[in-house]
Amino acid sequence: MTQQQLPSKRSHLKGMIQVPGDKSISHRAIMLGSMARGTSKVRHLLMADDVQSTMQVYRQLGVTIETSGEDTVIVSPGVAHLRAPDQPLDFGNSGTTLRLSLGVLAKQPFHIDMIGDVSLQKRPMGRVLKPLEKMGLRPVTPATGLPIQLAPNQTLHGITYTLPVASAQVKSALILAGLQADQMTRITEPIATRDHTERMLTTFGVTLKRQDSTLLVPAAQSLSPADVTVPGDFSSAAFWLVAGVLVPDSQLALSEIGLNPTRTGLIQLLKRMGADIPVQMHQTSGEPIGDVLVQTQSLRGIDVTKNDIPAVIDELPLLVLAATQAEGVTTITGAEELRVKETDRIDAVTTELNRLGAQVTALPDGFSITGPTPLHVAEPTVVRSHGDHRIGMMLAIAALLTDGALTLDGAESVAISYPTFFNDLAQL
Ligand code: S3P
Repeated sequence: MTQQQLPSKRSHLKGMIQVPGDKSISHRAIMLGSMARGTSKVRHLLMADDVQSTMQVYRQLGVTIETSGEDTVIVSPGVAHLRAPDQPLDFGNSGTTLRLSLGVLAKQPFHIDMIGDVSLQKRPMGRVLKPLEKMGLRPVTPATGLPIQLAPNQTLHGITYTLPVASAQVKSALILAGLQADQMTRITEPIATRDHTERMLTTFGVTLKRQDSTLLVPAAQSLSPADVTVPGDFSSAAFWLVAGVLVPDSQLALSEIGLNPTRTGLIQLLKRMGADIPVQMHQTSGEPIGDVLVQTQSLRGIDVTKNDIPAVIDELPLLVLAATQAEGVTTITGAEELRVKETDRIDAVTTELNRLGAQVTALPDGFSITGPTPLHVAEPTVVRSHGDHRIGMMLAIAALLTDGALTLDGAESVAISYPTFFNDLAQL
């Protein structure tokens, strides 16, 4: 475990930041490139541990993935397409890689062993395995989590399925299996989740139809190779967004970030809390991209409920931090999914922020936060990332508001999604 001294309380923050590529979109670009008939090019790929796990898995499956320059890769599946791996596929810490790959690999003529790190072993996979088994996926022994062994399987059937949890990973796994099935697959999502898979598939030559909240996935599709440029990760930009709003006398420009409306719930919720966050769009087709200007704002407490959650799911730790500085009570409910992320984020956020003097109460499915509370520690204090990249980075932003010396234990976890985070922090 690496310990990192966090910066002390700041009186202002000024600067411009361009964050690395989007993690969700980077995973999908490697996977769709691996499924395509021909060579694809991916620019501004996120070079972080989770995406390395994806590249490693698809290399083991026989795909050639070569880096060209700093963050461009060329993805070339073999003529015979994916081949049997000679070692277990190691998904590391990456839930997205594992869940989506269960869809990609649901129909393969060879046996597959799947493993991952201690955190990934604890995460629920039944939500993907159950519908995929209805389509014909064949686990060797019944499984609801890692390790998973898949038997060879040559046929998949289309199903009609309503997602019981709002999860883009489950939806995407079913889409990727559905493209290989022998009838149409219909997926209904009661609450919209991030739609990167649907948007990127259009670039790879397959367009899904939508009837209200139901997606129609055409059967027996082959993907054409494509050129993809990955936008900056909104979830990484979110750390600076919240820092800019909370640190006094700040002005930050965040350029070229992905502003897909299924991801930007944090901006909408900060607006509901009273903030003014000007956005300038550059690209509106494919993945929307734009610049965001952030200045210090005063906030008031709000109620965040189930329908708000999917568009802010990964930014909820930051929203809790913002709520500690808002006037009044903020409640966040319908967010029980946070309990099964890289760590139990409800417990981790509550424990660590309360150590800094915040008033956060954990609820079974969210939080109640009373603000504003000054953050301070009486003596040098070690806060913990709980092995979770987003908790570690949220605490580094909390340090900018905290009187007293903080050290982050488990700082290496930031490399999962934002390896240059501490360099960008130092630059501000
Ligand atoms: C992701 C979907 C979300 C999100 C995760 C990435 C994706 O997970 O929290 O970080 O890339 O599809 P769920 O599908 O479990 O909500």
